[in-house]
Amino acid sequence: MTIISPSILACDFLNIESELNALHGVKDLWLHLDVMDGHFVPNLTFGHPIIKKIAKVSNHPLDAHFMVTNPEFYIETLKDISFECFTVHAETQSNNVHILKSIKSISKHAGISLRPSTDIDILSDEVLKACDLVLVMSVEPGFGGQAFMPDSIDRIKWLKAKRAALNLDFKIEVDGGVNPTNAPEIIAAGADILVAGSAVFKGQQDSYKNNIEALRG
Ligand code: DX5
Ligand code: ZN
Repeated sequence: MTIISPSILACDFLNIESELNALHGVKDLWLHLDVMDGHFVPNLTFGHPIIKKIAKVSNHPLDAHFMVTNPEFYIETLKDISFECFTVHAETQSNNVHILKSIKSISKHAGISLRPSTDIDILSDEVLKACDLVLVMSVEPGFGGQAFMPDSIDRIKWLKAKRAALNLDFKIEVDGGVNPTNAPEIIAAGADILVAGSAVFKGQQDSYKNNIEALRG
């Protein structure tokens, strides 16, 4: 079953708890937290105090995506939280193997991500061996509601082939512009986890569960 990870970037920030309650009981669901620092990306969302509050009320595993220049700060300030996945951007580090190892102390999956414009070869065999998940950005990071970039399909296929060639088992997550129309092709290319913001948090709260199931195909 494909895991869906709704991005709360698209939810009603004045009513986060009630928005999360609308997802209650859905299986194979992570909760995607887009942390932006106004520096690595121009946009600014929320930081560790709000993540700690969300961790207290969420019934779903936390899937945090750090679009920040200094991810070490968050590893330190969030060390008491247990994450399902904690993803950092490869562009921010000179030694990605090192940071992936430190993430393992607070998260089941240590994730690495790339901007769509970053050459995928930056993910060396050593980095792929050290990570548990690769997050393929299928839009330029920073904002929800953008269109899926079709070139991302080749990146997903490249990762799937590389995973087989190296006999690894990292998961492939895809983030940005995912909707019920393009989800089947993204899953067929090799995605294990789909992030979706606007495709989940649309309509009334009682439609969110149907919106999620529509993504699984
Ligand atoms: C973009 C974020 C995505 C985004 C997804 O920087 O990483 O998680 O919120 O939103 P949609 O599904 O609306 O593209
Ligand atoms: Zn994200």
